[in-house]
Amino acid sequence: MSFNPQSILLTGASGQLGRAICRSGKFKNILTPTRIELDLTQANSIRKYFETHDFDVLLHAAALARVVRCQQEPSKAIEVNLMGTCNLVLNVLEKEKRTKRSIRFIYISTDGVYASTRGHYSEEDATIPYSVYGWTKLGAECAVHGLTNFSIIRTRFFDSQNIKYNRYASDSYTSSLPIEELVNSIDRLLNSDFVGTINIGAERKSDYERFKVHKLSIQPCTIEALLKEAVLPLSRDASLDCRLWERVMKSRKQ
Ligand SMILES: NC(=O)c1ccc[n+]([C@@H]2O[C@H](COP(=O)([O-])OP(=O)(O)OC[C@H]3O[C@@H](n4cnc5c(N)ncnc54)[C@H](OP(=O)(O)O)[C@@H]3O)[C@@H](O)[C@H]2O)c1
Repeated sequence: MSFNPQSILLTGASGQLGRAICRSGKFKNILTPTRIELDLTQANSIRKYFETHDFDVLLHAAALARVVRCQQEPSKAIEVNLMGTCNLVLNVLEKEKRTKRSIRFIYISTDGVYASTRGHYSEEDATIPYSVYGWTKLGAECAVHGLTNFSIIRTRFFDSQNIKYNRYASDSYTSSLPIEELVNSIDRLLNSDFVGTINIGAERKSDYERFKVHKLSIQPCTIEALLKEAVLPLSRDASLDCRLWERVMKSRKQ
């Protein structure tokens, strides 16, 4: 087994973000285990994979990321998002001890750790998730703090080629990023030495304003109309204060 100092282990490679990371071509020497090769919910599966593969960076993008499913199946959400991340962190700690090498851990979290009512959330603001999904992602953030070399990215993203619904609220706001921009940001973060929690997002816009340019048939509606039909709470203003990210990027250039 040869050690490649540039190698990255990506979890969730078959997911929306994982596929965008792989097709970007930005990340060389990337390990992309399937769920059969590395199952977050099976500590033994992670241990075996870690014993036979070396990597400097662990980019953790696997999750039960469908918010409705998390609300309907909280035990599954806890198992994958919370306990799965704990299993990964425990195995990273064990591998660091065994190999005496530091592993950089990048965790893709969510803007849903904030209450998402008033917007403009900074990393210093209180975290009060409004859904089971958000709570499990926040719980996972806590486990990641057991590591020394980590970055937690709080974000939201979309695929402009796949805008799901036919109507979006013109009075519900986010900092949602095109997926390609998030991939670029992850690459830039990896080229910085930032440790800690960071918001990464685009400028604050309503969902309708953001998506109508990508799908012309979209109709505007109100958040109240969506809430009447929703099976889980929805964010009203989940926009992010990304000034820390701007500062980190500026200092990286100097
Ligand atoms: N979508 C958003 O707007 C958004 C916003 C903020 C944060 N995030 C976070 O961004 C990350 C990527 O989201 P996404 O939209 O790309 O998710 P996705 O398309 O639903 O993909 C989820 C990935 O996780 C893998 N996975 C699920 N359970 C697993 C397990 N037990 N063991 C190993 N792998 C497992 C899936 O593998 P299979 O293909 O085998 O199922 C898949 O590769 C997630 O952490 C999500 O919470 C997403």
